[in-house]
Amino acid sequence: MSLALYFILITLLSQLHFAFSDSPNPLGLSIRATIDDSPGSPLYQIENLTIAGRVERLINISNARVNYLNSNLHKNAKPNPDNIRIGIYRDFLFYAVGFTIGSQQHPVKLLLDTGGGLIWTQCQPCSHTCFPQRLPMFDPRLSSTYSKLPCSHQFCQGPNRIYDCVSGQCVYNVSYCGGSWTAGIASFESFQFPMSSGHMGSFNNIIFGCSYQSSDFAFKNNEISGIFGLGMSPDSMVTQFAPVIQSRFSYCLIPFPDAMPRPLILRFGEDIPQRPHLQSALMWQVQLSPIFYYLELLDITVANHRIGFHPDTFRIRPDGSGGLFIDSGALFSFIDTNTVGINAYETVMQVYQAYYGSRGLRRIRGTLGFELCYETPPSYRDYASITFHLNGADYTVPGIYGHFTLSGHGFCVAIIKGTASILGAWHQQNKRIIYDRNRALIQFGDEQCVNDVL
Ligand SMILES: *[C@@H]1O[C@H](CO)[C@@H](O)[C@H](O)[C@H]1NC(C)=O
Ligand SMILES: *[C@@H]1O[C@H](CO)[C@@H](O)[C@H](O)[C@H]1NC(C)=O
Ligand SMILES: *[C@@H]1O[C@H](CO)[C@@H](O)[C@H](O)[C@H]1NC(C)=O
Repeated sequence: MSLALYFILITLLSQLHFAFSDSPNPLGLSIRATIDDSPGSPLYQIENLTIAGRVERLINISNARVNYLNSNLHKNAKPNPDNIRIGIYRDFLFYAVGFTIGSQQHPVKLLLDTGGGLIWTQCQPCSHTCFPQRLPMFDPRLSSTYSKLPCSHQFCQGPNRIYDCVSGQCVYNVSYCGGSWTAGIASFESFQFPMSSGHMGSFNNIIFGCSYQSSDFAFKNNEISGIFGLGMSPDSMVTQFAPVIQSRFSYCLIPFPDAMPRPLILRFGEDIPQRPHLQSALMWQVQLSPIFYYLELLDITVANHRIGFHPDTFRIRPDGSGGLFIDSGALFSFIDTNTVGINAYETVMQVYQAYYGSRGLRRIRGTLGFELCYETPPSYRDYASITFHLNGADYTVPGIYGHFTLSGHGFCVAIIKGTASILGAWHQQNKRIIYDRNRALIQFGDEQCVNDVL
């Protein structure tokens, strides 16, 4: 997306590395996937499009592809109530899904990324610029169910292609915020997922990326071998499996400091629990992004102080910037500094500052990209909650999940200055979250996620 966000992320990365310096490896954050639209990329158009024009073109790409995929995947449709159920594992601060692919049922672990599109894993032979992974690297030459997307495929041809045909091969190069990218061959493969019935479900001809080159990914414990895109784009898991999963999925993330006894469950379709207390927020109907799940943010409350933002403050601007989207692949939440008519980030921070100031807390130097940090008084628990007032529902993050505890005796308000507003994973702890594309709703409610394990 924008350069400013990129630089903030880079700063965050370097400081996280510093803060978690007990770790041998630098921490890489795959914040959000975007279809690569930069000069030199296969997708770059000859004409210079404005940002709005580029966003529009990406929407066109998505619309053109969804129908095709839906018809293609109908042959995979399984009768209810048997549903896909994927285990969610945690690698340091990343949540990842684990399943198997190919005729030899090769295990992969992919970052759970609701802000991403393409599903990809590293492939052999990877001669250079691959990141280390603990799982053996997938070798398509050993799989009888593997094949490459032909250049004649709609994803590879015509003005709305999302990949590019180079030397007779359909290839991709996806860039992520934070500067990382991955490139490889667009492919078909069989995916095996556990089903709610207890059986394994096998799904053929799933489009995924076999990555032969990747740069600037550093997953802490090398558990992760790629990314599992659950966004809105035509090649995401959710779009490809739309008929099988009724275009909806759900997860509940255990709080980051808590141990994860068993894998959590990424649930789909009818397998998503019906909780009585769930609230429903409308997805933004003016969908300016083919990937992100945008919510209509109307106002924000910190503790008991409702700010009273003008309803247009968080609108997506004509140039494609602004708005709020929900993203499991973003660790922390961002609030936009450049909102319509006001700096929303500063305004929210001032309310936090007044809250802790009135309690006599001493400010300490900011760190990790967080600006507002305080010394923690002994046995202090009086953390301010934050409520995002959405169209249709109020999303409240309790004080304990709205702050980041520093080693030593301090804490920070866990919100980062952004050029877009993002509801990140930190603000999703102990929440049931359901993404329902058919009804254009995000549903949520408080839940003890430790109970939703495989
Ligand atoms: C596109 O933009 C670049 C740099 O901004 C400029 O050099 C180039 O002439 C432009 N191309 C067209 C077709 O407008
Ligand atoms: C998107 O599609 C519409 C209608 O098909 C077309 O008029 C418009 O020019 C397209 N926009 C871009 C940026 O390709
Ligand atoms: C992929 O895109 C990135 C960023 O645009 C670029 O630096 C990199 O060289 C590209 N990789 C390949 C293999 O094309």
